Amino acid sequence: MRRGLAGVLFGRFSMISVDSRREVKCSFHLLSCCSVVVSVSVVSLDKALETNHLNARVGDNVEIKCDVTGSPIPPIVWRRNQLDLSTITEEDVRVFSDGSLYLTRIQLQHAGNYTCHAQRNKDVVQTHVLTVHTVPEVHVTPRIQSKRPGEDATMLCHVAGEPFPKVEWLKNDDSLKMENTKKYQLIGNGTALKIKDIGFADTGAYMCQASSIGGLTRDISSLVVQEQPTPTSANEERRFFAFHDWGVSIYEPTACRLYHRIQSTDIIPGTQEYVCGDKRVKCSWGRAINVANRYVYASQPERDRVIIISKVQMVVVDVIRDAGQKRKHHTVHPEPIDGQFDLVTGLFIPSSEQELSHHSFKYGYVTHTNQRGLYKLDLVNLRYTRSVDLTPYNCVPLHIQFSALYGMVIMQCMEPITKRPTGQLVLDYVTDTVVATKSSLLGVPYVSPDSRKLITVDRTASGTTIIVQEITPYGLMFLFDVKTTLNISDVAFYPSQTTHSYDIYASAQDKEDLLFLNLLTGKVDIITGVGKAVPVNLTEWSNPNRPISGSGLFGQYMVTPASEALFVINGRSRTVNCEIGSVIHPNAIVWTTIKFY
Ligand SMILES: *[C@@H]1O[C@H](CO)[C@@H](O)[C@H](O)[C@H]1NC(C)=O
Ligand SMILES: *[C@@H]1O[C@H](CO)[C@@H](O)[C@H](O)[C@H]1NC(C)=O
Ligand SMILES: *[C@@H]1O[C@H](CO)[C@@H](O)[C@H](O)[C@H]1NC(C)=O
Ligand SMILES: *[C@@H]1O[C@H](CO)[C@@H](O)[C@H](O)[C@H]1NC(C)=O
Repeated sequence: MRRGLAGVLFGRFSMISVDSRREVKCSFHLLSCCSVVVSVSVVSLDKALETNHLNARVGDNVEIKCDVTGSPIPPIVWRRNQLDLSTITEEDVRVFSDGSLYLTRIQLQHAGNYTCHAQRNKDVVQTHVLTVHTVPEVHVTPRIQSKRPGEDATMLCHVAGEPFPKVEWLKNDDSLKMENTKKYQLIGNGTALKIKDIGFADTGAYMCQASSIGGLTRDISSLVVQEQPTPTSANEERRFFAFHDWGVSIYEPTACRLYHRIQSTDIIPGTQEYVCGDKRVKCSWGRAINVANRYVYASQPERDRVIIISKVQMVVVDVIRDAGQKRKHHTVHPEPIDGQFDLVTGLFIPSSEQELSHHSFKYGYVTHTNQRGLYKLDLVNLRYTRSVDLTPYNCVPLHIQFSALYGMVIMQCMEPITKRPTGQLVLDYVTDTVVATKSSLLGVPYVSPDSRKLITVDRTASGTTIIVQEITPYGLMFLFDVKTTLNISDVAFYPSQTTHSYDIYASAQDKEDLLFLNLLTGKVDIITGVGKAVPVNLTEWSNPNRPISGSGLFGQYMVTPASEALFVINGRSRTVNCEIGSVIHPNAIVWTTIKFY
């Protein structure tokens, strides 16, 4: 279904008086060798229509009409970041011969400026500024809690949306009587509601409500006040898979209990192959990820395969062979391996854990060894759609991060052969045009799950600088930077306790410390005593030697593997929850959530 948004919001051109028309241009063209043909193109645009503001919701189809007109009616060119949009072959952005632009199933990435002008006249340009909004998302925890009179109760709320919504708490449909400040305490824009010294009258349904131009969404946390509280069993549980030299171990983080162990010498069901090998053959793990919260995929680059573990049964259920030759298994970042794919050095796929994205990322990028460029990969149809030349920027992409908001693709670049860093590039996800360059900004980029912050970790001989930028409709804005003597190995985002956004925890390559950085205030905290890291020379496949992995929204715990132990960190209290020993060289952690209904 198409909607003529521009036509609905703004009057037609015929209503505009002649005086306000900007320019009349004539152009002369030599059409053939022997005769001069004069073609006069009269093009005009009402001054009041030079900038046209449009608003759409994610999922909408929008037709944008160009108000540049003329006699005869001129063919229209549409551009975004100077790129002629008729050269894009993608279905969701199409220029029609009647001069209108159609955007189908709009995503946040499509927000931005679209310009149109007559093919023969680039001087009269209309700019359409498209903002895209989402329905607010609200999640609360716990769903239900039972407490004794006199106790305090706390409930948490996480809100996401563009524009960021207004957040309120209600009780049984009424606003909270906040004058009663002794009773209620609202923390960080409604991130938490604390009810003090509860009585029976406080029993009720507490609603976290988020509202914006995109709509209104609520989620409910119930409080039951009783003399004899009914123990409320958790409705979900988080577990983590730790990949190490002798197999895979699965734990519960609160009591740090071992659930199950897959041994390196186990035989994969339905095959005659070992999970890793016969006795004394160590495992070699590439990368491991959670897929659709049902499976854990782990790559074994040495064996050119990916094994698939069932989250619930905790056994290997399948094997994908020749991972290097089949392009199908795009869910795993493949390592440089033999076969047809030997040129490929990196496959960069937007994380499915990003908020606001909802599978809106249809493309990823592939890089080739020492090549200054990218290949854009259609993840649905598994084919290459375009190549992007980055030679003018002397950029071989090393790391790529995606921001669902405003469609930014942020890259760390280096020079081919010499591997000298050449700074940060920002690409527009829709057109693959370079929209910003920062040659002085070196280091590995990380985008927060809410697409609001970009962290760049620059490691030098004297220590690490962490640069924090804000992701805005106008590009990246520097917020602050923090210097540390720790040599940062890995970064994990952790839900903030005072805002609806995130903070970070960073692990160190060679020290037994973790760094906490509050991304709102810039305040730093250090957690000590997390054990010796795996020696750098024992890490393979460009994994960090000291990973750190958070357990997602409302996930209290993080895990950071040491050389022969796993440390479970309580991110709320910033303390070590437990140390799990006798795990040799753990190098990858995957979190899963089990839901009980
Ligand atoms: C609180 O929410 C408002 C929007 O309702 C937003 O503008 C503001 O930045 C938020 N403050 C913090 C600290 O997140
Ligand atoms: C930090 O590690 C990187 C990579 O291993 C290395 O190049 C750099 O010199 C190290 N810095 C310090 C202070 O040890
Ligand atoms: C989009 O166009 C408007 C109006 O011309 C301008 O103010 C704004 O800076 C542009 N935005 C970007 C990101 O170029
Ligand atoms: C790794 O480095 C350590 C010292 O940090 C050294 O003792 C060990 O032999 C090295 N191992 C390998 C396989 O190079």
